[in-house]
Amino acid sequence: MAVLEILQFGNDLLRQKSEEVTEFNEELWQLLDDMSDTMYDAGGVGLAAPQVGVLKRVVVIDCDDDHGLLELVNPVIVAIKGKQHEAEGCLSYPGKSGFVERPAKVKIKAQDRYGRRKVYVGSGLLARAFCHETDHLNGILYSDKVYKWEEDKE
Ligand code: CO
Repeated sequence: MAVLEILQFGNDLLRQKSEEVTEFNEELWQLLDDMSDTMYDAGGVGLAAPQVGVLKRVVVIDCDDDHGLLELVNPVIVAIKGKQHEAEGCLSYPGKSGFVERPAKVKIKAQDRYGRRKVYVGSGLLARAFCHETDHLNGILYSDKVYKWEEDKE
């Protein structure tokens, strides 16, 4: 168990593009384990590797639904449908949330920790998480897309 430091808004690493994972080895598994520990410790529903300073295309998501913990390596959104407008937050911006337009339904392909190819379809919160976390891998933060901030929650 290792809870990692979560980089905060303003850190340059959050603006970098992450690299494709090509080796599905113990180093990756350690990263995935540490990322889920960190996400649960912080009470988040998703975390992307650049948020812990690792520029690799790795994401963990747990929306407390039937999927449980999702480990997405090299995720790519392959189809979107409809629109939704909900508030979201980010572990790199504690205490903030803002409204973002996202697709209502998102189909994503990814690899698991062993390199096996997977396809997931999400709607609601999971669809938002797919978009939010894959954006992180491209150096895009949700604040870039917020059209209305909520009042500070702290
Ligand atoms: Co985030």
